[in-house]
Amino acid sequence: MAQPSKARTASRATVKRPLAVVVLAAGKGTRFKSARSKVLHPLLGRPMLEWVLGAASELKASDTVVVVSPDADDVRSTAADAGWPVRFAVQKEQLGTAHALKAGLAALKGFDGDALVLCGDTPLLDGATLRALIAAKRRKGVSAGLATMRLHDPTGYGRVVRHPTGRIDRIIEHRDANAAQRAIDEVNAAVYCFDAATLRTALRKISRDNVQGEEYLPDVIAYFTARGEYVEGIRADCELLVGVNDRFQLAEAEAILAQRIARAHALAGVTIVDPATVRIEPSVVIAPDAVIGPDVSLHGATRVGARTRVQRAVVVDATIAEDCEVGPFAYLRPGAVLEARSKVGTYVEVKNSTIGRGSKVPHLSYVGDATIGEDVNVGAATVTVNYDGETKVKARTVIGDGARIGSDTMLIAPVTVGRNAATGAGSVVTRDVPDGTLVVGNPAKPLRKSKMDTGTASKGST
Ligand code: UD1
Ligand code: CA
Repeated sequence: MAQPSKARTASRATVKRPLAVVVLAAGKGTRFKSARSKVLHPLLGRPMLEWVLGAASELKASDTVVVVSPDADDVRSTAADAGWPVRFAVQKEQLGTAHALKAGLAALKGFDGDALVLCGDTPLLDGATLRALIAAKRRKGVSAGLATMRLHDPTGYGRVVRHPTGRIDRIIEHRDANAAQRAIDEVNAAVYCFDAATLRTALRKISRDNVQGEEYLPDVIAYFTARGEYVEGIRADCELLVGVNDRFQLAEAEAILAQRIARAHALAGVTIVDPATVRIEPSVVIAPDAVIGPDVSLHGATRVGARTRVQRAVVVDATIAEDCEVGPFAYLRPGAVLEARSKVGTYVEVKNSTIGRGSKVPHLSYVGDATIGEDVNVGAATVTVNYDGETKVKARTVIGDGARIGSDTMLIAPVTVGRNAATGAGSVVTRDVPDGTLVVGNPAKPLRKSKMDTGTASKGST
């Protein structure tokens, strides 16, 4: 039963106390079969660990400690980019989650308050769930809090074993569980809140007497309950707490995040035709009344203007103004700027180029390092030949307002096509075209031996 001294500790815990966050991220991530740390694998372009730290940042804790393995410079630099001060603790050997937490607490020497413990592999967490857990832990008579969830398939998770009264008794890991325990569908989400001082004592009692020969953090729960202390479980939505242990779970978690983001845009006035096939990174900005069709992925610093329609496209760091048309089957790469009412159509790639107001590149073209003016029409299969294989220089193409580029025109950059100028179908334009002039034909003829040792091509497009 509860020892009187412990009961006093629990009731003191109701007052406002300092909070520290410890994120466990030193695991080997064996099930990922990756050369890279599991917690650095991205979901919607953002490393898994960054999502976890993002949720934790809402708590304004006095300290945040990330537990890393000894050679995890990449993990450190990712966490250091989180935007607020994060400290690191090194777990020298990967001997289990309790062992990792010991390292984390060692970095919090002298800290007296509540420790919120998270794992680097639960990227769907949100701040509200964490706040609810902390509040539950701080209620009178509660010694520790943990988040649980019920799953149709709890395989792999630690199961929450409860007394007939409903009180939490302990956590049993999947691999250590018998058939009856494996039938339990309530699992440990590996998000905990403890009194730091009590936790330090509890961690000293953890053994490695289990199937994996590791120090299991969930074993501290049995330590508390054996002493008659009360452990509160808050049951949360499984969409917030899934753990990512392998690449399939990574894909599943990303799909959940993608739905969350698509929903937020939809509620803000963007038509998302088929949320299941759309991937919108969290940094993307979309104006109301834009229409995002199926199979669209929008990355990085992309912006989409009002009433613009994007269909079956991959868009990376592009700026698309209002009333534009993109796709189907378009690829907008970094630096693509589509001004109002412009169109980038089917099988068109645009990189580091501006498509002026009302201009159209409807089919099968490559536009790289180009500045296209207003009301220009670029015929099918036009290529800005921007790359010189000999000098390795990316050269610019400039097309003036009102120009008409005939189908299958090769614009050998650097080159300027004047205002209201035109090129005939199949032209290979090697010299600047004056304003209002029509050029036709192909000047390709042998000039000299190629300077390249192998191959024959000297100009291409990238
Ligand atoms: C853990 C829990 C399990 C829970 C599940 C929820 C344990 C023993 N089990 O299992 O009850 O249902 O999470 O997702 O805790 N880590 C270290 N150092 C280590 C080992 C792990 O820092 O030595 C870190 C990992 O980087 C990871 C986290 O701890 O972020 C959890 O470890 P993992 O091996 O994924 O635990 P699970 O088997 O998922
Ligand atoms: Ca895990």
